Amino acid sequence: NDQGIAGSPRQQLAKLFEESLKLTIPEELDIDPAIAPCQNPKFGDYQCNNAMGLWSKVKGKSTQYKNPQQIGQAIKANLPASEMIDGSSIAGPGFVNVKLSGHWIAKCIQNMLMDGIETWAPKLSVKRAVVDFSSPNIAKEMHVGHLRSTIIGDTLACMLEYSNVEVLRRNHVGDWGTQFGMLIEFLFEKFPSLEVVNDQAIGDLEAFYKASKLRFDSDPAFKERAQRAVVSLQAGEEKYRNAWAEICKISRSGYEKVYEHLGVQLEEKGESFYNPYIPNALELLNKEGLIEESEGARVIFIEGKKIPLIVVKRDGGYNYASTDLAALWYRLNEEKAEWIIYVTDVGQREHFEMLFAAAKRAGWLPADDRTYPKASHVGFGLVLGEDGKRFRTRSTETVKLVDLLIEAKSRCKTALIERGKDKEWTEEELDKTAEAVGYGAVKYADLKNNRTTNYTFSFDQMLNDKGNTAVYLLYAHARICSIIRKSGKDIEELKKVGKIDLAHPDERVLGLHLLQFAEVVEDSCTNLLPNGLCEYLYNLSEDFTGFYTNCQVVGSAEETSRLLLCEATAVVMRKCFHLLGITPVYKI
Ligand code: ARG
Repeated sequence: NDQGIAGSPRQQLAKLFEESLKLTIPEELDIDPAIAPCQNPKFGDYQCNNAMGLWSKVKGKSTQYKNPQQIGQAIKANLPASEMIDGSSIAGPGFVNVKLSGHWIAKCIQNMLMDGIETWAPKLSVKRAVVDFSSPNIAKEMHVGHLRSTIIGDTLACMLEYSNVEVLRRNHVGDWGTQFGMLIEFLFEKFPSLEVVNDQAIGDLEAFYKASKLRFDSDPAFKERAQRAVVSLQAGEEKYRNAWAEICKISRSGYEKVYEHLGVQLEEKGESFYNPYIPNALELLNKEGLIEESEGARVIFIEGKKIPLIVVKRDGGYNYASTDLAALWYRLNEEKAEWIIYVTDVGQREHFEMLFAAAKRAGWLPADDRTYPKASHVGFGLVLGEDGKRFRTRSTETVKLVDLLIEAKSRCKTALIERGKDKEWTEEELDKTAEAVGYGAVKYADLKNNRTTNYTFSFDQMLNDKGNTAVYLLYAHARICSIIRKSGKDIEELKKVGKIDLAHPDERVLGLHLLQFAEVVEDSCTNLLPNGLCEYLYNLSEDFTGFYTNCQVVGSAEETSRLLLCEATAVVMRKCFHLLGITPVYKI
């Protein structure tokens, strides 16, 4: 359906202005229309900001234009007629303001209701992307940082998938490296027969890690055996491979529980996967003359960085960076990804800056970040406890992530029971709602902040049913569903025969906001900032409240149109929830 996939208002306006700009200054080919929402809604809905920039280009050369305002006038005059525009005006030094037609907004919403929200998906120029996220380390703690990476990475993947990008969701687990020699040797010592090894026998893998590290540091003979074990593992000796696989398996069953609770899908391709590709990747870099000798190690010097990127350690072994170079090569050349996105804490920024710089020097990536293929590091801040310190739970220093989720859910359940829902609902409904709200609250609390800042983990805050929380938003959605249910009207039927009319100012505000959904998703994708979508969702519920307060729905003369507007709001809210990894609820 062509109407549905015509793009967001901003994209469609951009097309119109592109036409106009070509006519206005024919000698300046390929000028990107700069379209943004109006600073002040009094003047219109969108503005075109090209006049000033064009003026600086033609100043002194043009016989036609004497100032930027004149260029603005010409842009306005050359704008092709369109049903989407109600009127335009000039402001300041040549800004062209346009007011969208309410009829057109209403029609777009109606088409979406008929053809589905998928028709509003933004169009991105990327076809395939890798999102490298979660990525815990085998036998080490999976800490809240990994939870953040899982939540943010999943949302980015969902938004890209909605935008018709094929996403390879990659779990780059730390399953390789010298620490495995120590773990394997310790395993042999504890369990001379591998058959009996399982998670029950080992118990806490992290404690196992710590005990083996203690042994490694205190017993030189053990240390030597551990170092030999690394060599045997790397050489592929079966006994060692099996022990390694066993350790990975136990770890995996731990972190897969977290993914199951969160409903997150991702495919494990850990560091071990890329190990065989390292020699070739380093050889390619060597041929380009990038690799140098420094203090016995092999390194790549990066302009502007004091310390080089070490790619082969002094002992001849590979490291985190060697693996990432091989993985980058693989993703570009074998998987043909155009955009490779890494979600880790901001502490790894330097590592990724050096990695990308090396890939640019080698010609694997273009120097210009605006062109594809492209690599991006999505860094995020710390999770703090309410005491303002790094977040820890209870006695252990490890945050048991699953316990955190279970606690969020159980607190929600308690709140629902306090409100007497256990008498109204089946046990299953109660459980499902508590889960949706509890897990949704944890995710939303993380996503609503700009990811680069630290955020404070507080159950009390995230589970508050007022303010900018998932609880408030989920309930707002359920309330809209209940308005529609209680009207007694068949909404499917209304979609076919009814008509939306945005006569009241609050209806128009809501309608326009609904229509801007695609641009917000597009911006959240291009800036890799999911908080933009959270802000949109929260504002949407505010605009709905404004509408619902001032416009009677059931029993009014405009009932049909207004019920359709309720339905459209619910549809867009649900899509937001879905993109944020949150399960909507329909009843409260
Ligand atoms: N395992 C790493 C950590 O826990 C994160 C890996 C991120 N991905 C990557 N390709 N380096 O810090």
